[in-house]
Amino acid sequence: MTDLYAVIGNPIAQSKSPRIHAEFARQLRQDLSYEAILAPRDGFAAAVAAFRAAGGRGLNVTVPFKLQAFALATGRTERAEQAGAVNTLKFDGPTILGDNTDGAGLVWDIEDRLGFAIRGRRVLLMGAGGAARGVLLPLLRQRPDSITVANRTVEKALALQRQFAPYGNVRGGDYEQLRNRKFDLVINATSASLAGELVPLPPDVFAPQALVYDMVYGRQFMRFLDLARERGAALVADGLGMLVAQAAESFLLWRGVRPNVEPVITMLRAG
Ligand code: ATR
Repeated sequence: MTDLYAVIGNPIAQSKSPRIHAEFARQLRQDLSYEAILAPRDGFAAAVAAFRAAGGRGLNVTVPFKLQAFALATGRTERAEQAGAVNTLKFDGPTILGDNTDGAGLVWDIEDRLGFAIRGRRVLLMGAGGAARGVLLPLLRQRPDSITVANRTVEKALALQRQFAPYGNVRGGDYEQLRNRKFDLVINATSASLAGELVPLPPDVFAPQALVYDMVYGRQFMRFLDLARERGAALVADGLGMLVAQAAESFLLWRGVRPNVEPVITMLRAG
């Protein structure tokens, strides 16, 4: 019998996950089907139960259900625990494993695809919402020199500093504290680009050879990266690679084999 997987969210029509996973399955000759489930906002648990009853093996979880997925899981990976959110569920008999593959996807994209080693680097992470929290542990595991978390609402950055201090050198603060400092890797984990806004980043923060990464993807959201390039960033990248790589991490968790990410990124860029 064909194994059944899906992405669940609301809205869901825009999701690229069905295309990505269909391509992974074709690549690795895996017999599986992957669909998109639109769950009512108050009907997440019921939709998951119905999917499991139909023989579903795993789900990708997207907005607005990542916290509910966290609560539903009977066991969680440490990276999901620290992210406080779950984007991948794996069903195995009565157990529901909750994982979060976003940070691993980001790290893979930066290190493996873009060839930028995080170890020993000065990292600036902008934003202190769910997206930032989701990637902090995997970034710290790469042993950067430091991670500075900058956020408009400083208290949220300080809360992340407290939470992640046991894992490495993390400092929280506002954008003003960044004046006269330089960073090798700058990651935009805010929702500013999606809203057509720019983060209040001082102009001179990019060290020579700096990589600037925006977790958002799509031509219309490139203003921040265009500006970073003008201000001297050596390399800029949008979040499409992270999107495909986090999907690959989910696929690996479910199927035990790692898809080749690059051709799928190329396919999606082609439209
Ligand atoms: P997500 O799950 O995408 O992280 P979120 O939890 O709503 O979404 O967090 C959004 C993040 O983007 C927050 O860090 C927010 O800053 P505040 O905590 O100060 O609100 C940040 N953000 C959104 N718009 C921004 C802007 N124009 N400039 C700077 N930061 C912005």
